[in-house]
Amino acid sequence: GSVAALALSATMALAADKTIGFAQIGSESGWRAAETTVTKQQAADRGLDLRFSDAQQKQENQIAAIRSFIAQGVDAILLAPVVATGWDAVLQEAKEAEIPVVLLDRQVDSSEDLYLTAVGSNLVHEGEVAAEWLIGAVGDKPCRIVELEGTTGSSPAIDRKTGFENTLKGHDNLQVVRSQTGDFTRAQGKEVMESFLQAENGGKDICALYAHNDDMAVGAIQAIKEAGLQPGKDILIVSIDGVPDLFKAMSEAEANATVELTPNMAGPALDALDAYWKDGTMPPKFIQTESKLYTQADDPAGEYDRRKGLGY
Ligand code: AHR
Repeated sequence: GSVAALALSATMALAADKTIGFAQIGSESGWRAAETTVTKQQAADRGLDLRFSDAQQKQENQIAAIRSFIAQGVDAILLAPVVATGWDAVLQEAKEAEIPVVLLDRQVDSSEDLYLTAVGSNLVHEGEVAAEWLIGAVGDKPCRIVELEGTTGSSPAIDRKTGFENTLKGHDNLQVVRSQTGDFTRAQGKEVMESFLQAENGGKDICALYAHNDDMAVGAIQAIKEAGLQPGKDILIVSIDGVPDLFKAMSEAEANATVELTPNMAGPALDALDAYWKDGTMPPKFIQTESKLYTQADDPAGEYDRRKGLGY
């Protein structure tokens, strides 16, 4: 019973006493599944009791989960908001219950005082990085681009589109000719790409695909192969996330570039909560993660090996 040991066990008891609710979107993509795995791991490593809710991509389920977490009296709520609008009322309820909410990977249009902080990438910048890569790869040739958008109304779908379009301005040889949602899933990425291929002379008129996430790109790669074209050559492919399967596709020269999004949003989120619980430290309203571009030149086979099995 030294004082230090006593103090240590008191801190551990404190951490173990904390309960967190995680209102997750679902498991629409490999990236999303990895984020769930990492969040559970981060909570376990810190001795936190994590209550997990999978909303099956429905906002109403997320709102019900948050209300249930409030009723349970959790110490904090992690929310990955499926769409950007419609959160004011439930965030207000959490605020009145004095439960801090941390947003993960997506933004909301609610007032900043309704949440503690948001951890995520600069989603507009991701679109810019993707467009800059494509501009460099295409050069002066005319290029008809097709775009697979993420979930309609989600902040990554809105912002990744904006960043990409803004960067293409002034590069008139590059043109987005078709744009449709694939809801961030492989299955819909494939289906929508099939319709793009059909509408574009069997795909011969398409120069590049911009997919708002890797899973849709992986689905589209399948569709392109089935149409008898070579993904990564006949049609350039740039997407966002950095999931293992996309690195595998790059190592086989079937995809060209991806902008990495870390699935570890929970690490910075729980650090911010720890500091807040300890002495009321207010984090900044936005904790930004990195957006790194990877291409076929960046050892995709090695990157695949390093990532596979990490919960993806
Ligand atoms: O909000 C992040 C996005 O959501 C990821 O890029 C996508 O894969 C996921 O579904």
